Amino acid sequence: MSKIRVHDKFFEPYLSATSIEEKVELIANQINHDYADKNPLFIAVLNGSFMFAADLFKRLTIEAEISFIKLASYKGTKSSGHVITAIGLDAELYGRNVVIVEDIVDTGKTLHKFLPQLHHQQPASLKIAALLYKPEAVIYPVAVDYVGFSIPNKFVVGYGLDYNGLGRNIKEIYRLAD
Ligand code: IMP
Ligand code: MG
Repeated sequence: MSKIRVHDKFFEPYLSATSIEEKVELIANQINHDYADKNPLFIAVLNGSFMFAADLFKRLTIEAEISFIKLASYKGTKSSGHVITAIGLDAELYGRNVVIVEDIVDTGKTLHKFLPQLHHQQPASLKIAALLYKPEAVIYPVAVDYVGFSIPNKFVVGYGLDYNGLGRNIKEIYRLAD
């Protein structure tokens, strides 16, 4: 695989489709084990998490439900620091075992703003599954319970993640080339 261009920037191959698949399977197996008989409710944060959420959900063999919310904070390759709720939550969380599904936890701002709203509804438990986690970028610490890959603080695209709207359909994950 070689470099690709998205808008005005070049990206280099970083995580292969196979390594992503294997990681998603690993997380699904852990969740199958941890949530057997708990009928967990997954809340996938759109847009970026749609692909991870779909692949993860397909691999669950337990009883489980899923719903979606749409939050946005990014402009280009930088977090705007401003989190907007574009589609709100319709599910009842009271007494439920909730798992938030994120494509990536970067500064932590999105979840930091969103988690209190969820806790307010008194779920029985609340955990976070993120395919990617950038420990060096964290400004608002959030405990991520299921992490696919911990990655350096470099902008990435593919597998649901975009750069100004493009790149979400790429099967692999690419990172910004120097
Ligand atoms: P946070 O609020 O800074 O943790 O950022 C969370 C959201 O920003 C993620 O759910 C992504 O949608 C987006 N984001 C963060 N880092 C990247 C990246 O490297 N590439 C694409 N989107 C990103
Ligand atoms: Mg996101």
